Amino acid sequence: MRILVVGSGGREHVICWKLAQSPKTEKIYCAPGNAGISEVAECVPIGAMEFEKLAAFAEEKKIDLTIVGMDDPLIGGIVDVFEAKGLRVFGPRKNAAVIEGSKAFSKELMKKYHIPTAQYETFTDPEAALEYVKTCKIPVVLKADGPALGKGVLICMTRDEAVAGINQIMVERKFGASGDKVVVEEFMTGREVSVLSFVDGKTIRIMASAQDHKRAKDGDQGLNTGGMGNFSPSPFYTEEVDAFCREHIYQRTVDAMAAEGRPFTGVIFFGLMLTPDGPKVLEYNARFGDPEAQVVLPRMKNDLVDVVEACVDGKLDQVELEFRDEACVCVVLASDGYPLAYEKGVPMYGFEKFKGKEDYMCFHAGTKFDGNGQIVTNGGRVLGITALGADLKEARRKAYEATDWIDFRTKYMRHDIGKAIDEA
Ligand code: AMP
Ligand code: GLY
Repeated sequence: MRILVVGSGGREHVICWKLAQSPKTEKIYCAPGNAGISEVAECVPIGAMEFEKLAAFAEEKKIDLTIVGMDDPLIGGIVDVFEAKGLRVFGPRKNAAVIEGSKAFSKELMKKYHIPTAQYETFTDPEAALEYVKTCKIPVVLKADGPALGKGVLICMTRDEAVAGINQIMVERKFGASGDKVVVEEFMTGREVSVLSFVDGKTIRIMASAQDHKRAKDGDQGLNTGGMGNFSPSPFYTEEVDAFCREHIYQRTVDAMAAEGRPFTGVIFFGLMLTPDGPKVLEYNARFGDPEAQVVLPRMKNDLVDVVEACVDGKLDQVELEFRDEACVCVVLASDGYPLAYEKGVPMYGFEKFKGKEDYMCFHAGTKFDGNGQIVTNGGRVLGITALGADLKEARRKAYEATDWIDFRTKYMRHDIGKAIDEA
C-alpha cells in the first residue's frame, strides 16, 4: 500500500515509524515531514494546508491511503477535499473536526448529551461576559472559542485577571476571530489524563492513557507549551476510571456526533480531569496528541494500517486493540527559549547512538537537513526521546539516559517528566 502522511512533527514521525513496520506498507510519503521522518518516508515539500496540491499529489502518486496527523488541516476540511476526489483518507470531516475546532460546540454537545464536563456559559457579547465574570465563582477558566495555537485557555485565579482576560480575548482580540465567542468555565481540580481512541463513525476503540506535561519548566512552572514530555500508561487511569469513562463519556461522544449528523471517523483524544466528583472532559482533540502518540503507538501491538483501514471502512467493530505491558516515556528536547523566541539552524549530533536499540526511539519534531546533510534544529520542540521499559520507572530511566546521547548547543528539557509516577 502507498500511504501519504500529512504533517511534520514528532507525532507524524511516530505514525510513519509505526506504518513502516506493517507488511502491507509498500511506500510512505510525508508532507512536509522533517529530517527524522525522511529515514522511513519520502518527504514531499507541500505544506499541510495546501489541500489541492496534496490531493493532486495523492492522485499522481496513486496513494491508497492518506493519514492526516495535524489539527489545522482537519479543522480546515482537508478530508472533505480528498473525499470529493474519491481519495481514501483517515481523519474527521470538517463538520466533525469542529469537536476540536470550536470549544463552544464541544461544550454544547456535552451538555446536550449529558457527558460530564465543567459547568460553563458561552458569550458573544463582551459586556455580558464582563458582567458575568464580575460575580461568578473564582478561580474561573476562559476559553477562546476557536483554535489559538494552544494558548486560548486562561486560568484566572483572581477577578481582576478574569476581567483582563475577557478584555484580551474579546476586546483586544488577542486570538483574532477565535475570540468572537468565549466559553467561561468552572475551574476544576484533579489529575489530568489523556486518552486516545480510534473511531469509525459508530464504534470506538480505546488505545491507552497518557499523561502530558504542558508547562515549559520543572515543577509545572513557566508557560504552557505543546507538551514537554509524557508517559503511558497513566497510573491514575484505574479500572474504575476506565469503566466510568466507557459508560459516560467515550461511546456517548461518538453517538452524539452521529446523532448530530456529524459522524466522526479518525482519532479522538479525550483530555480528562479526574476530579473529586469523577472524571470530566476538559477538551476533545480530533487527532493523535503530540507527544501522546509518541508514547502510545510504540506500545500498540496491532498493525496501524489494519486499524486505520478498519476505521475508514467502518469495520472497527471487527478489531480488538492490543497493547504491550511495557510502559513508555517521552522526554522532549526543545530549543532554549521555547515557547517564546528561540534560535533555529543549530547543528545536532549523536543520532547514531539510537541505531540497533529497539527500546529507544528518537522521534524528530523540529529538525531539518541543512544544505550539507547535517541535521539542524528547526523548531521549538526538536526531538522526542522515547524509551520502553518494564515499568514506568524503568522507561523513565532509559528515556533520560538517552537524552544524553544527543547534543546541540540550545538543548533544553524538563528533568521531572514522569515525576507523578513516584506519587502513584
Ligand atoms: P484545554 O486546551 O481545554 O485542554 O486547556 C488547556 C489546559 O488548561 C488543560 O490541560 C488544563 O490544564 C487547563 N484547564 C482547562 N480547562 C480547565 C478547567 N475547567 N479547570 C481547570 N483547568 C482547566
Ligand atoms: N499534547 C497535547 C496535544 O497534542 O494537544
